Amino acid sequence: MNLTKLLQSQGFGTRRECRSLILSGLVAIGGQETTDADADINPVGLVFSVDGQDWQYREKVYVMLHKPAGYECSQKPKHHPSVLSLLPVPLRNRGLQTVGRLDEDTTGLLLLTDDGQFLHVYTTPKKNIPKVYRATVRYPLTEAQLAALRAGVVLHDDPDPVQAQSAIARDAHTIELTLTGGKYHQVKRMVAAVGNRVEALHRERMGEFVLPPDLKPGEWRYVDLPPHPHPSPAGEEGVNFEVPPEAHRQTGAAVARQ
Ligand code: URA
Repeated sequence: MNLTKLLQSQGFGTRRECRSLILSGLVAIGGQETTDADADINPVGLVFSVDGQDWQYREKVYVMLHKPAGYECSQKPKHHPSVLSLLPVPLRNRGLQTVGRLDEDTTGLLLLTDDGQFLHVYTTPKKNIPKVYRATVRYPLTEAQLAALRAGVVLHDDPDPVQAQSAIARDAHTIELTLTGGKYHQVKRMVAAVGNRVEALHRERMGEFVLPPDLKPGEWRYVDLPPHPHPSPAGEEGVNFEVPPEAHRQTGAAVARQ
């Protein structure tokens, strides 16, 4: 791949800006400074540096972020900074999107990617990707409330009841809820529908992705997935990500940067 194009694909600016970075001697390949903007580089497994900082070439980027409170999951936030402001500029330039949304005051696991197929698979209701939330509630939980959440509650915008896949009380004021839908304010509205109120909300898991305990609020890290999803078997909609479980859960090899 042409070096200028390679840098451009990784979010380092326009073609012109990337050329200028290279010609200024700010780019190194395998530790070797290069000023040849048209050098033909094999991107597979490539580590390059720009202005002294190392980057790994990634055809697609998958990131897990520990979303802090006070950030919006929007490209054009209205009242609070965007979660994208927590990522370095080259990643933002790649047009990462959040995989679903969390409310401004919700904390926890948020995935971001520039892989449209992955985004689709993880957000389409058809795939029933489970999301695990921990909610702190105002009033002591009752068995009746937990049972109603499991049986299904009616929200005002839809006559069909919405069920929690599981609803477990961790203590009198803490509930662990597993949901497969992605309705607006779903947890808060379901909890309100059974007569309680969410005071704080945190997402711990999404599908196979688990928020690592050592990833602090505001920190992020790469998640390594295979570059190309496999097409679905005939007759099924969407795409399959045939990812070994350990890859989904991989957090150790990734580099957390602020
Ligand atoms: N449900 C909510 O009510 N809020 C969130 O941020 C996520 C799920």
